[in-house]
Amino acid sequence: HLRPRFADRLLTWFDQHGRHDLPWQHPRTPYRVWLSEIMLQQTQVATVVPYFQRFVARFPDLPCLAAAQRDDVLALWAGLGYYSRARNLHAAAQRCVEEHAGRLPDDIDALCSLPGIGRSTAAAILSQAFDRPAAILDGNVKRVLCRLLAIEQWPGLPAVEKQLWQVAEALMGDIRPADYTQAIMDFGATLCRRSRPDCGHCPFRSDCLAFAQSRVAEVPTARPK
Ligand code: ADE
Repeated sequence: HLRPRFADRLLTWFDQHGRHDLPWQHPRTPYRVWLSEIMLQQTQVATVVPYFQRFVARFPDLPCLAAAQRDDVLALWAGLGYYSRARNLHAAAQRCVEEHAGRLPDDIDALCSLPGIGRSTAAAILSQAFDRPAAILDGNVKRVLCRLLAIEQWPGLPAVEKQLWQVAEALMGDIRPADYTQAIMDFGATLCRRSRPDCGHCPFRSDCLAFAQSRVAEVPTARPK
């Protein structure tokens, strides 16, 4: 019942309240989107921004990164943590030079076969960089969908995750895919945040089953011990 109004209303919310000045949005190239998504996998936006800017200043495109020494790549990552991300990034750049003429592939399976890129990151790249309607499902999106549908169980359970992927894909539609992905990320990070979500300003308040049941604070549930 939520679709297609969901995508329309999310985009309307995004136009007014989303983030439009992130450095990887200007210009929004596949290389810059990919790099930002890898940095943002385990790190917050405010921390990532200066690292992103130093990284693209030193390695402005994918062939340039592929040709770099691994230690120089790791030096630019110093302080961000999770260094396997930097090693995978470098290896993936080299694979793109060897197998894809120095570009990121615009295909979900080819993206997923690169080191460091899982299904949600591949969809984030396809949608934001190539404007294709590929749905993401990261931690923020899981929380948003669990609340909308009042899903009781831990979203990491394989059966729940499968259901969430289906919902994520059904809700996306095919208008403005790049903006839709940024919109659902921004919505989860700011309005529908983990603690003290701003339900008073939520465009989906009348559709949200967790809100209707006064259970927003309890959904999603934590990983069982
Ligand atoms: N987290 C992952 N990708 C992001 C993006 N493009 N903007 C903000 N937060 C993100």
